[in-house]
Amino acid sequence: MGSRLVFTAIAVILYSASLTSSAEDLPCRARDVGIKGRSIVCVCDANYCDTITREDPAPGTFVVYTSSNAGKRFEKTFGEIKSTPRSSRMKQTKRKRILKTLTSPGLDESEENNETSVWSRVNLRVQTNLRHQYIEGFGGSVTDAAAINWRKLSDAAQFRFIDTYFGPEGLEYNLIQDYFLKLPMIRRSQFAAPTEVKIVASTWSPPIWMKSNERITGFGQLRPEFYQTFADYHLRFIEEYSKAHVKIWAITTTNEPINGIVPWAPFNSLGWTPPQLARWITNNLGPTIRKSPFNDTLILAVDDQRYLLHFYMLGMEKADPKFLDYIDGIAIHYYGNFAPAQILTELHNRYGKMMLSTEACEGPMPWHLLKVEVGSWRRARRYITSILEDLNNFVVGWIDWNLCLDPEGGPNWADNFVDAAILVYAEKDEFIKQPMYYAMGHFSKFIPRGSRRVAVRRRSIMTLENLAVLNPRGNIVMVIQNRYRREMYLQIQISPRRYIELTMEPESVKTIEINDNLNS
Ligand SMILES: *[C@@H]1O[C@H](CO)[C@@H](O)[C@H](O)[C@H]1NC(C)=O
Ligand SMILES: *[C@@H]1O[C@H](CO)[C@@H](O)[C@H](O)[C@H]1NC(C)=O
Repeated sequence: MGSRLVFTAIAVILYSASLTSSAEDLPCRARDVGIKGRSIVCVCDANYCDTITREDPAPGTFVVYTSSNAGKRFEKTFGEIKSTPRSSRMKQTKRKRILKTLTSPGLDESEENNETSVWSRVNLRVQTNLRHQYIEGFGGSVTDAAAINWRKLSDAAQFRFIDTYFGPEGLEYNLIQDYFLKLPMIRRSQFAAPTEVKIVASTWSPPIWMKSNERITGFGQLRPEFYQTFADYHLRFIEEYSKAHVKIWAITTTNEPINGIVPWAPFNSLGWTPPQLARWITNNLGPTIRKSPFNDTLILAVDDQRYLLHFYMLGMEKADPKFLDYIDGIAIHYYGNFAPAQILTELHNRYGKMMLSTEACEGPMPWHLLKVEVGSWRRARRYITSILEDLNNFVVGWIDWNLCLDPEGGPNWADNFVDAAILVYAEKDEFIKQPMYYAMGHFSKFIPRGSRRVAVRRRSIMTLENLAVLNPRGNIVMVIQNRYRREMYLQIQISPRRYIELTMEPESVKTIEINDNLNS
């Protein structure tokens, strides 16, 4: 109890300090990584880290945050919503309207003579009355590797690190995936965050004595005599975390179950065929959790690649459809995204369960020669594309993998080095924020829990990757990515007579918060 009181006192001091500090954001301390074709990284240490605060747009206005390959990082700009005068609409003849659609779709009369090609113009229409899933949030994973790197920083740099992800002047992450015992990092994150940070926990391999191959890696399944033991193990884990005042919001039914039913998995795994997994959930894991004091813990099934979701869900359903009574959702990994995102909408339509993306990183495959690609905008772009695709297909949240790694993409006992949004240079007591960090932030910072996705319609020949939500304040928030190496001109219709106009820089991403609540 004593320590909790001390915690509260510190919270009050820090919170009031952040209220009195000026609203001016600290800019990115940019470092050119010195490799052709790469973007910049932003350098943080014990004394400095760039910050980002969300501006509340006044009624009738919008705020734009831009990041780009050319080096912008959350650059803020402001604009006013425009109205189409009724009269000018009425005057248009049919012929003129057709001509206009062909030459410059969706633009005003005044711009009809604009030479900009139809290939550079995009016109989108937000349909706020067509509402879809509620968003749960965004976050990263507290892995062993992340905790090891983080703990090598000085105390002050550790605080800046947590704040830049979870704090009100950081990305405001509100989801964490936990793999093992990482309590200090989790507690500090929850402490820094302005809202509840929900935790998803996932097991990889059980103790080897429970496994058919008695090894951590490779082709191995749970021995049937330990089905209940392993379910109890999950409950025990939730109980122990609860004793440490950390609530587990959701568990997955095993990380990447495919790895233990193929022969070559080089890292910790447990294999499940769909029928095995369905029976274990129905007979052991499901009842154990539901009959416990932790009966509200969500159970997320599959936790594997997009192209395996049908294999598992349909296979489990066929073997034992009762498993569906115990699961609350489907967890999805990033590495199979060559499979179409439409798969997710199909699963949404068939099962109506929540879907959460629980792991993503760049550079994990044997053919990725560069595990870490410092300053890579391409990797940020791929994150943005994937998040947009997932959310547009009913996914409710997105969790990045390692919150940080070392400059080699480790440590990793199985040499499974990969990239991360933040790299820690322990000997310099410094960490750098890669473009992927900002990619995550364009969503996590501006799409708070409880936002609701709404439909967007294309009204031009060209389009840009996009997403629209209504946030809990009633504002429209859009994330738009321009993958082209040229400027694009964007008009977004937010109601029949109200619209905004923007120029999208080459290879850029924008988050736009639009306040069209004129009565408020
Ligand atoms: C054409 O329209 C775009 C966007 O509406 C504007 O930014 C640009 O300056 C215009 N060009 C000319 C030549 O008027
Ligand atoms: C879930 O657990 C809580 C706390 O132990 C208990 O009060 C509640 O009745 C349980 N709910 C169900 C549906 O079993």
